[in-house]
Amino acid sequence: MLEVRDVVKVFKTGDNTIKPVNGISFTVEQGTFAAILGKSGSGKSTLLSLLGALDKATSGDVVVDGVNISALPDAKLTAYRRDDIGFVFQAYNLIPNLSAKDNVMLPMEFAGLSRAERSSRAAELLVQVGLEEDMHDRKANKLSGGMAQRVSIARALANNPKLILADEPTGNLDDETGELIIDLLRSLSHEKNTTILVVTHDHALAAKTDRKFRLARGRLTEEPVRAAHLH
Ligand SMILES: Nc1ncnc2c1ncn2[C@@H]1O[C@H](COP(=O)(O)OP(=O)(O)OP(=O)(O)O)[C@@H](O)[C@H]1O
Ligand SMILES: [Mg+2]
Repeated sequence: MLEVRDVVKVFKTGDNTIKPVNGISFTVEQGTFAAILGKSGSGKSTLLSLLGALDKATSGDVVVDGVNISALPDAKLTAYRRDDIGFVFQAYNLIPNLSAKDNVMLPMEFAGLSRAERSSRAAELLVQVGLEEDMHDRKANKLSGGMAQRVSIARALANNPKLILADEPTGNLDDETGELIIDLLRSLSHEKNTTILVVTHDHALAAKTDRKFRLARGRLTEEPVRAAHLH
């Protein structure tokens, strides 16, 4: 379960103070696929970075699977980011001259898996996200956008995280490919019981999630998702 309690993030730049996150509370059950919508600059990426411990909240608590990450010392936060969170970005953020498989194996190195274990797990994950075996050795910079995003999703799954944070994962993809990626994230969240939060501007994609939140003026509100899309 993910529990966010009265989280505030203040940015001070010179005389300017902004609060893109100004008292946000919500709870999502484990295995939920949820969307976060909001205008540009509304604080969506800021919120994700607080949930993924890339940045610290000014106040409030983020509790992931019973652990209050807002109270963890920096050394533990590094381990939390590495072991419990998967990140997926709009620009894939793969290492361009490494193969698809090597990109997926990389996060497992820190988890202490042997090379053989990393290799077989990466191959398994790549197949799960829909990348055929003949593509596994292809360099990341030679993959199409849709394939690159599949590899980045496999990488996010590498350490079997409780939570995956995806910041506009379809932003660089055409509509059809974007829809396939959302369908993939949705089925993974349910099959692996992984909570996945996806930031998107696309209402059609947001309608495919279990829950839908909108961020505006520092606050998060939930909107109904049409029942036909739920299962
Ligand atoms: N490190 C920072 N220092 C100061 N201000 C920041 C910082 N990071 C973000 N902001 C500001 O916080 C606000 C929210 O930014 P954020 O990137 O979270 O929005 P967003 O909803 O992700 O926008 P987009 O849809 O364009 O990606 C913006 O006004 C931004 O300029
Ligand atoms: Mg953003």
